[in-house]
Amino acid sequence: MIKKLAILSVSGIFLGITAACGGAPAAAPAAPTVAAPAAPAAVPAGPGDAQTGKGLIVSKGCTACHKVAGVPEAVGEVGPDLTGVAGRPSIAGGALTVSEANLKKWLKDPPAVKAGTLMPNLGLTDQEIGHLVAFLITLK
Ligand code: HEC
Repeated sequence: MIKKLAILSVSGIFLGITAACGGAPAAAPAAPTVAAPAAPAAVPAGPGDAQTGKGLIVSKGCTACHKVAGVPEAVGEVGPDLTGVAGRPSIAGGALTVSEANLKKWLKDPPAVKAGTLMPNLGLTDQEIGHLVAFLITLK
């Protein structure tokens, strides 16, 4: 239920952004890849790779809800700007202190960490989470 609501709001954001940029709302891109089962990304095994993680920020639809300096596609405003996230004392309104382990915990299942959060469980694999956190941890 939370997931559905969040995805609807993501589509709304996309329409809004398209309109604000002067594009035709009717031509807005389909809902971001948040819910799409999507072909598994060709990610290497092993520890997280920050460059792969940066790509996943785009391909997993984080961009719909977050801004991230250095990722031009990231224009979302539903969630906090992720620029500098690794340098903050805590995330999700103080729900977790910032560490690699806690960022992983958050990405695995945000509603399990903070009930009622607008960030849905995106169904990320542990490997995807490893890459994403390898990138997030560079955002100081
Ligand atoms: C549907 C919108 C949405 C999507 C998609 C989304 N997020 Fe979020 N995210 C949020 C919201 C809202 C919060 C704030 C959580 C809270 O405090 O309840 C958040 C919080 C976070 C935080 C903690 C930041 C902080 O300062 O509190 C991180 C890290 C994060 N998201 C990473 C990601 C990544 C990586 C992806 C893609 C895999 C992603 N998010 C996709 C909405 C989203």
